[in-house]
Amino acid sequence: MTRPLNRVYTELPISVFEVMSQLAREHDAINLGQGFPDDPGPEDLRRKAAEAVVDGNNQYPPMMGLLELRSAVAAHYQRWHGLALDPASEIMITSGATEAIAGALFGLIEPGDEVVAFAPAYDAYLPLIRRAGGIPRIVRLEPPHWRLTEDALRSAFNARTKVVCFNNPQNPAAVVYPREDLELLARFCKEFDVIAVCDEVWEHVLFDGREHTPLMTLPGMRERTVKVGSAGKIFSLTGWKVGFVCAAAPILRVLGKAHQFLTFTTPPNLQAAVAYGLGKDDAFFHDLRRDLQRSRDRLAKGLASIGFPVIPSQGTYFLNVDIKPLGLNETDEAFCKRLVAEHRVAAIPVSSLYEDDPVTSVIRFCFAKRDATIDEALERLSHAVR
Ligand SMILES: Cc1ncc(COP(=O)(O)O)c(C=O)c1O
Repeated sequence: MTRPLNRVYTELPISVFEVMSQLAREHDAINLGQGFPDDPGPEDLRRKAAEAVVDGNNQYPPMMGLLELRSAVAAHYQRWHGLALDPASEIMITSGATEAIAGALFGLIEPGDEVVAFAPAYDAYLPLIRRAGGIPRIVRLEPPHWRLTEDALRSAFNARTKVVCFNNPQNPAAVVYPREDLELLARFCKEFDVIAVCDEVWEHVLFDGREHTPLMTLPGMRERTVKVGSAGKIFSLTGWKVGFVCAAAPILRVLGKAHQFLTFTTPPNLQAAVAYGLGKDDAFFHDLRRDLQRSRDRLAKGLASIGFPVIPSQGTYFLNVDIKPLGLNETDEAFCKRLVAEHRVAAIPVSSLYEDDPVTSVIRFCFAKRDATIDEALERLSHAVR
């Protein structure tokens, strides 16, 4: 076979998560790179899913998702954010947020459209934008605050901008954007008639009493936002890959056609269990936050006490360390490779989540782990920086 294969994928390097996980296996390391919890997830949800497989209908569910789950998503966002969404025409269920984002980009972008994206970011966005024929215009974010600025947005948005792909709370930065930044972004979306694909998978993983503001709730954004969520993150069941897309009916109608030929549907038992989970009382979601916040604090305090300069984490399963003040004279990537080989703890070099002009001093640790795992990692790292 001599014909070139698709360039977007042939030119894509192996994902940093795969590289670091492979190194973690080779060195028998604790893997704080990839973001999944040690915890098996809420038992009642897992039992609901099991019961639905045994007793329920296992044939193709409706393409847009079980009405029971779409209604549960609508009720959940009404309760938490006062959002009024019509389950029949404004909510669709997908196989994870990644499929939702792929479908949204494929459904919205015409070849040659510009798409504003941010760096560092979840690594699926850029290949999907390009595969959809879009041209990414990247806004570079910097530690420790990773804020949006008028100047940066002004240099990225123009009359050719069709879509902005935004993530809040942000992975890997672990920030929850303040309303001021959301208002700034909304102002640009309205000025340039742009649709925001807003990846809000971390909407419930917030700390220190923070609250999530969906971009869709800002004035003028209801009709131009595609809101993406993920049950995997909400319930610490990352393998389930049940996503939700909320958008005004004229947009969702088109995204449904993209979804139709991506996965068409999502396992019905998982949909039924997620519908049950979304209906749980507020205390359940606050308890999840409290438990993760405890783990965040355990890792943050431990890292600080052994000399790692920790950047506070406001949300997500992650916290970052900026190694610049240590004056080690090595990049984040070299540092991560040394950590995994010499100290047997794997982390993610954040530079790999930029395409150009990366920040090269930040490394990301996942703290969604048992106390014993965190303590063992800290013990192994105790002499890593001094
Ligand atoms: C910002 C962001 N979006 C999407 C995803 C993936 O979500 P899902 O597993 O539902 O596809 C992740 C997973 O880490 C993420 O961090």
